[in-house]
Amino acid sequence: MPGNLFDFTGAQVLVVGASRAGIGAAIARAFQAAGAAVQITGAEDAPAEEDRARFAYTRLDVTDLGAVQALAARTVTLDILVNCAAITARGEEMAPAFFEHVVDVNLHGTFRMAQAFHGHLKAQKGSLINISSMYATFGSPKNPAYGASKAAVTQLTRSLAVAWAGDGIRVNAVAPGFIVTMQSARSRSDPAHVAAVNLRTPMGRWGQPEDIAGPVLFLASPAAAFMTGTCLAIDGGYSIA
Ligand SMILES: NC(=O)c1ccc[n+]([C@@H]2O[C@H](COP(=O)([O-])OP(=O)(O)OC[C@H]3O[C@@H](n4cnc5c(N)ncnc54)[C@H](O)[C@@H]3O)[C@@H](O)[C@H]2O)c1
Repeated sequence: MPGNLFDFTGAQVLVVGASRAGIGAAIARAFQAAGAAVQITGAEDAPAEEDRARFAYTRLDVTDLGAVQALAARTVTLDILVNCAAITARGEEMAPAFFEHVVDVNLHGTFRMAQAFHGHLKAQKGSLINISSMYATFGSPKNPAYGASKAAVTQLTRSLAVAWAGDGIRVNAVAPGFIVTMQSARSRSDPAHVAAVNLRTPMGRWGQPEDIAGPVLFLASPAAAFMTGTCLAIDGGYSIA
């Protein structure tokens, strides 16, 4: 074990879904600050302005198996894979076609990436981190596909952890609470909702993308060497109050 448990110098990291200056970008920046070589992807043509010079970027649709496999084929080494790509649309997820699309991106996309990079992670005895959500456990009346997909991501995390433990790969997840990003912009346009979250959260505020980065680096680090299949809540206490 290295002296500094959080030194990622020499590690190759891929953060999937880091293009919109949200949680993925915060995680990517934190890995880079800790010494890692970081690549990011997103559904957009280019990443957020502030990250353009910082990261090598690939436009990648995680519903496109061929594109996912092509990225894996041209990736030489990978130590840490972080699956952040996800969508949700409050109030629109009772439509069957959209429900399927949300599950395709959030759950199947997570699995496609994990499976495509299994060999890379096995070769490096690496680490896979999936981003679940508090809505994996709470009912989400306005986002039923999102909630179902995230519950499945948590369960997939456990299954892959068991399946790949013998390969030396650790598989963990985090479950963020209410975080200020573009994904939550629509719900944050309702001041009553913003205030209700602040009131209901023991720590009295929404989370920032940077709040998610530290626990992800911890799970990927040697400090978490005996942890696999876990899902850490990062929600200011919302889920325990
Ligand atoms: N913001 C929150 O309150 C919150 C709470 C819990 C969990 N999360 C999770 O955190 C992760 C990051 O979300 P965020 O809030 O930073 O949102 P975001 O919208 O900023 O990021 C989502 C990312 O997913 C990418 N993406 C969307 N569709 C894709 C597709 N088909 N193929 C590939 N990439 C695609 C986008 O390009 C973007 O980079 C997501 O998994 C999200 O579900 C967010």
